[in-house]
Amino acid sequence: MDKVAVIDFGGQYNQLIARRIRDLNVYAEIKPYDISPEDIISAGYKALVFTGGPMSVYLEDSPLCDPEILKLGLPILGICYGDQVLAQLDGGCITGAGASSEYGKTEIFTDHTDGPEDVLLAGVPESSIFWMSHTDYISELPEGFVKLAHTSVCPYAAMGDADRKLYGVQFHPEVTHSEYGETVFRNFLFKICGLKPDWKMDDFIENSIDKYRRELAGRKVLLALSGGVDSSVCAALLSKAIGNDLTCVFVDHGLLRKDEGDLVEDTFKGRFGMNFIRINAEDRFLEKLKGVTEPEQKRRIIGEEFIRTFEDAADMIGEAEVLAQGTIYPDVIESGKGSSAVIKSHHNVGGLPSVMKFDEIAEPLRDLFKDEVRAVGEKLGLPRALVWRQPFPGPGLAVRVIGEITKDKLDTLREADAIFREEIERGGLDKSPSQYFAVLTDLRSVGVKGDARTYGYTVALRAVMTDDFMTAKWADLPYEVLENASSRITNEVKNITRVVYDITSKPPATVEWE
Ligand code: XMP
Repeated sequence: MDKVAVIDFGGQYNQLIARRIRDLNVYAEIKPYDISPEDIISAGYKALVFTGGPMSVYLEDSPLCDPEILKLGLPILGICYGDQVLAQLDGGCITGAGASSEYGKTEIFTDHTDGPEDVLLAGVPESSIFWMSHTDYISELPEGFVKLAHTSVCPYAAMGDADRKLYGVQFHPEVTHSEYGETVFRNFLFKICGLKPDWKMDDFIENSIDKYRRELAGRKVLLALSGGVDSSVCAALLSKAIGNDLTCVFVDHGLLRKDEGDLVEDTFKGRFGMNFIRINAEDRFLEKLKGVTEPEQKRRIIGEEFIRTFEDAADMIGEAEVLAQGTIYPDVIESGKGSSAVIKSHHNVGGLPSVMKFDEIAEPLRDLFKDEVRAVGEKLGLPRALVWRQPFPGPGLAVRVIGEITKDKLDTLREADAIFREEIERGGLDKSPSQYFAVLTDLRSVGVKGDARTYGYTVALRAVMTDDFMTAKWADLPYEVLENASSRITNEVKNITRVVYDITSKPPATVEWE
């Protein structure tokens, strides 16, 4: 299998570069900028991509790679800062762009050379839009390079040296706003490097299983399973690799949705036959939450109680050498670059007791994006309900029961929520909302059921569309879906007299009510 190393100079789109390459069926992985030429050779990479980065190559502490890497004979594509690294190490000149800095969509003009280096931008029209974000530019090309493109202010928007197969672009082909970004990657990978597009997600799975079997078999590995997509896929993958050397601990805090705890147990203990410990901690969580109405206090109590539960179960769990985590790439960005040694304070499991010490952390999914993780989960045979589980807050239904939490209220909410989700699924919507759930408000109102007056709770339904959950638009659900949900909830769930639909976007509201 042909492999590409994406050499990381700290840019924000680095994983996206690896992702674009994998989308073209070539395996790509991120490596730090200080990787040695020997490691590059021994890993068998067929090509390198230098990423962007926030620094200026001419400043003293800026990351640069070993110049010997340029002499390995491997094709290299430098992107933005990576383009400037290539030029700097090879004797070019980089200067501050000043007023000529470019940000965002920028018109690029190709410069045909009629030489073999033209192939990098083959198929890119004379004028097209690419994403730019730079405050420096190459003012003088290194020897051997020729100009392949420019913008109205940037003299060398792309450069190439066909003999040495070294290429650089000032723009970001990995960003979707770049109209011909994929063309540039295709040209580089297939026409310049001659790679074969034969990588599949199955290869990732097989390679990971081999790797973790080699590294972890015979050692005790612990995974705190939340039932979320990431920890579930991580558990399934590691169980294929090391079987019962993996122990999964699932703390059921009693704040999960209807039947969710059982689904997790049936899947991992039943179907996968894993070494699976379920700790039923509903009583202790509800006891601690008694009388608490303030949302942040609920979150704190749940995080804390999670750790205490783990501590109390330490004997049952036993010592472990390795902690496995379902960290995925977006978590890596959130928690700071290259932080693999930091135990992720996983939202959904609330952190582990600090007394638990591990020699090592295993994070098999840390290079993958969410949709890639889901693809792995499907291939490993996880049930759809787990693989396509929507985001669910770590504190669970505690932040969806407004005000004081009781078991009755939780049960009421679970029923209403399950009906709403069923009706959305049954509604066959063209585009499913990104997240949808019911909230049990603490507002009671008068109703009439049969001939009798009732006085029950009001349930709010919430459904949002969003890409990143930073902003969200309330979902324009068909009336029929809302009507069916409302009538079923008021008919089938005791204690609910009224159903309302939340039509507030984020901002100003958050997705969750608490
Ligand atoms: P908000 O309510 O902040 O939610 O607009 C954005 C996304 O984050 C989820 N969320 C949480 N996830 N622990 C979590 O793991 C939490 O405390 C928490 N609060 C909100 C929410 O469900 C939505 O997907």
